[in-house]
Amino acid sequence: MTAALAGRRLLVSAGPTFEDIDPVRFIGNRSSGKMGFAVADAAARRGAEVLLVAGPVHLATPAGVQRVDVRSAEQMRAAVLAALPVDAYIGAAAVADWRPRAIAPNKMKKTAGVDTLALELVRTPDILAEVAAHAARPALVVGFAAETEDVERYARGKLAAKQLDLIAANRVGVAGAGFESDDNLLTVFGRDGLARELGPAPKIQLADALLDLIAERLS
Ligand code: CTP
Repeated sequence: MTAALAGRRLLVSAGPTFEDIDPVRFIGNRSSGKMGFAVADAAARRGAEVLLVAGPVHLATPAGVQRVDVRSAEQMRAAVLAALPVDAYIGAAAVADWRPRAIAPNKMKKTAGVDTLALELVRTPDILAEVAAHAARPALVVGFAAETEDVERYARGKLAAKQLDLIAANRVGVAGAGFESDDNLLTVFGRDGLARELGPAPKIQLADALLDLIAERLS
């Protein structure tokens, strides 16, 4: 029996962000958006009103989900904040931490004899931390942590530092899990002491298991 989410408003971010360098180049990452889209899909199936803010991905919009497409971290921030208030925010997007200080208006050309290029990067806003500290803070704020090592320590650190209710951590850089995979293995840590392994399983199944934890805490 899956816990219902009828009448709840859930906001999900998914996918990477692309930070433009010039009109033809950008800094991106390997997020496919599959995990966030699976969460949006599963939440809509449970009767939630679902708003999905998606970075550049090649995925179809799940049935019954309201989708806004964005490109950069700054655009994602604006779309997420505009969607508040919601009952829960699930930040599954792999938001770029850095963007070029300026976007060159024209394609950057090579110069004969110049072999290096220094790009100055500046921090992007931390959307998850901002939502968690917002005056219209959702009852539940859920983050993701993609780590290549020390998964539990880093995930618990982010849970505390960003004032989250739950964080779903996964190991990236291993086969059968992470960004491009259809399957994943999540460890969920909660502000309430929860430490629960989910999977390994297809992302759609993990999304359902994660929604059980969310629905329990919303009810
Ligand atoms: N996140 C965000 N805004 C950012 C960066 C990350 O909302 N500018 C959110 C992601 O959606 C995810 C979580 O924060 O839910 C990831 O935490 P973060 O500390 O940003 O992870 P990393 O970027 O991997 O941090 P680090 O490089 O320190 O490991």
